[in-house]
Amino acid sequence: MSHMSAQKKILVTGGAGFIGSHVVRLFVQKYPAYHIYNLDKLTYAGNLENLKDVESASNYTFLKGDITDHGYIDGIFKAHGFDAVIHLAAESHVDRSIENPMEFVTTNVLGTAVLLNAVREHWKGQTEGKLFYHVSTDEVYGSLSDDGFFTETTPYDPRSPYSASKASSDHLVRAYNHTFHIPALVSNCSNNYGSHQFPEKLIPLMINNIVHNKPLPIYGKGENVRDWLWVNDHARAIDVIFHKGKSGDTYNIGGFNEWKNIDIVTLLCKVMDQKLGRPEGTSAELVTFVKDRAGHDFRYAIDANKLKTELGWEPSITFEKGLEATVDWYLSNQEWVASITSGAYQQYYQQQYEGR
Ligand code: NAD
Ligand code: DAU
Repeated sequence: MSHMSAQKKILVTGGAGFIGSHVVRLFVQKYPAYHIYNLDKLTYAGNLENLKDVESASNYTFLKGDITDHGYIDGIFKAHGFDAVIHLAAESHVDRSIENPMEFVTTNVLGTAVLLNAVREHWKGQTEGKLFYHVSTDEVYGSLSDDGFFTETTPYDPRSPYSASKASSDHLVRAYNHTFHIPALVSNCSNNYGSHQFPEKLIPLMINNIVHNKPLPIYGKGENVRDWLWVNDHARAIDVIFHKGKSGDTYNIGGFNEWKNIDIVTLLCKVMDQKLGRPEGTSAELVTFVKDRAGHDFRYAIDANKLKTELGWEPSITFEKGLEATVDWYLSNQEWVASITSGAYQQYYQQQYEGR
């Protein structure tokens, strides 16, 4: 099935966040015939600065709103008649889900249900060319030991409030596809890194702490493994799946790129010593092992071969190159970092790391 048409009105949710802003930028710039509506509540994680370069494009509109507000969602569907939804809005940080699970249930589960009900209502009997694209995570599959990979048929086994809320939302999307014949698909992606990521997540947090000579808090022994993908490559994958994916299908997206946390932080220290003109080994002295995350999943690794063989996507850049580009972006955008690490971030940081 092709979802391509000359003109489309696409609702992107969570477009002011990390991955969403890369998706919005790609679609606004690559598809002038599409109109991109970016719906975002602008939580602590959403920032319109992320989209400065596209905000005045004629095929872009920002809508400030909450996906859990069904009256508001109904109103924007009535007003704009969207042809497709790319749903990224979510609470996304595992540590915050351990502190405050209910916010994750509300936004990720209820919010997704509200959007699904809106498309059910507004696309009734007219689903030709329509698509609900749900952006999800590999964490729904649980945790791996030293070997094996998550495939599209790996049974769900979420183990944190965050991943359980994402798993619930995935199930709802598939249930609406099956029961109400809403054209829908899900992609499950591994850890992203790149520009504009909020510095609560491992890589930007470490970059920021290295810049400021602050301790580098490594959970447990630092032996947990993640599969890292450059955010621009995730956005490219979403583009390919949006246009060529099959309704009802699932696509795993990954970097073919596994790293232990301690090895990433060691590499970052080395790269940043060079960039900051510090003697080699200086930043590595900041490494501090702290109390482990509760229920910390040991290893995630995605088998992304379906996406590669069926739709021809693969990562465009090596991790070393992507990481260097990311460090360069953070070093030349210290104002962006300073503006979001003031105020509420300080409070979060103290709560999360002090006395750990
Ligand atoms: P993020 O936290 O950077 O951004 C989330 C965005 O959603 C923010 O702009 C926020 O303001 C918005 N939002 C939150 N609650 C909202 C609400 N109730 N209504 C409207 N907008 C709301 O997240 P991210 O890292 O960019 O992740 C985006 C999506 O991709 C999420 O669904 C996440 O589960 C998924 N994902 C993330 C990763 C990753 O490594 N970051 C990997 C795989 C999948
Ligand atoms: O796998 C995809 C998921 O990746 C996404 O669905 C989530 O939205 C995203 O946040 C991410 O989850 P992780 O928990 O893997 O990412 P985080 O950056 O929080 O942590 C990466 C690893 O680093 C993890 O093993 C915990 C560890 N860590 C993290 C922080 C913030 C530390 O050792 N110290 C830290 O301070």
